[in-house]
Amino acid sequence: MRALLQGSGAEIGFGTGRTSMTTIYMAGHEGMVGRAILRRLEERRMGGEEITCLTRERDALDLREQAAVRHFLQETRPDVIIMAAGRSGGPAVRATAPADFIYDTLMMEANVIHEARSAGVQRMVRFVPAGIYPAGEEGPAQESRSLIDMLSASSDPHATAKATGTKLCDYCNRQAGTDYRTMVTADLYGPGGDFDSETGDLPLAFLHRFHTARNAGQDQVAIGESDALGSFLHVDDLADGALFVLDLPKAEYTAAAGHGYLNIGSEHAISVSDLAVLASRVTGYSGRIVRDPARRETRPSRVLDAGLLARLGWSPSIGLADGLAASYDWFFDARG
Ligand SMILES: NC(=O)c1ccc[n+]([C@@H]2O[C@H](COP(=O)([O-])OP(=O)(O)OC[C@H]3O[C@@H](n4cnc5c(N)ncnc54)[C@H](OP(=O)(O)O)[C@@H]3O)[C@@H](O)[C@H]2O)c1
Repeated sequence: MRALLQGSGAEIGFGTGRTSMTTIYMAGHEGMVGRAILRRLEERRMGGEEITCLTRERDALDLREQAAVRHFLQETRPDVIIMAAGRSGGPAVRATAPADFIYDTLMMEANVIHEARSAGVQRMVRFVPAGIYPAGEEGPAQESRSLIDMLSASSDPHATAKATGTKLCDYCNRQAGTDYRTMVTADLYGPGGDFDSETGDLPLAFLHRFHTARNAGQDQVAIGESDALGSFLHVDDLADGALFVLDLPKAEYTAAAGHGYLNIGSEHAISVSDLAVLASRVTGYSGRIVRDPARRETRPSRVLDAGLLARLGWSPSIGLADGLAASYDWFFDARG
């Protein structure tokens, strides 16, 4: 094995095709998977392929440390990474230290993947456990219906990261008795929001668009074709609701937030076109509102069922018309 680790050269078989490669970083080379792959690579080297395989002891390169991973990959710039490093331990260990497990795994994965890309590493293979498939379903699991697939359904990297962060909080609470609370929040609008007339928060973008049209004397304003339903929460309502939730006794919150989070939002669903009409009235625009298939409005998120929070004693108090009017006033004040 020593020869393999010290070797230099360029050809190794990988996957189904033979591809030229000079340097492999074997992450987790002391683990079960890493050792097995090293054995295979050694056989290939003995068969005449020249392979340079980089390895680092965990003491020398802790993959949870971003700066260390960056330095290593920038220095070595391997052609390929075989990512077989991971937090060890079966279900029992995971049950007793879930917060450590999710944190260590997230840090290792994020650091290696992100720093590989930054260092220009083009190829990597990594291993994800079969636990990504829901338990209890009949038959062999195919490459769909996994947690990854469910996350992809929202096709939102922000939501994917936030969902993982929510599990991190959940596991901290279980493992360390912390009291980290999560509120799944409806689309917000209000002072401090993004008023860009094209890309801003939808209610605020509409206010700006109709405001500009009214001032310019335009007789028509275009909005997108989608008539998705959404609901919107004024940011001052969110502030009140957040403090309400923070003030709840731990036992009460924990009993209510069985899934590890609570929804906060308005249950008043409104279509994109009705929202546009409301915003136009607030600004005093009186021209026509037309549909433009080429225009892509931000699609509002789903309406949230905020029943749990209501049963705990809190509901939003700012209606959409009032909230839009207050936002419009703020917009004027902020613009001077
Ligand atoms: N084993 C399975 O059944 C199975 C199934 C599906 C997927 N996988 C995935 O395959 C990968 C390897 O599994 P495995 O069974 O070979 O695991 P393993 O035997 O526990 O080996 C893990 C390796 O990762 C290293 N490591 C752990 N924390 C590290 C850190 N912070 N920095 C640098 N290196 C670190 C370990 O180093 P030390 O030796 O110093 O601890 C060890 O070399 C994991 O990602 C796992 O999720 C495994």
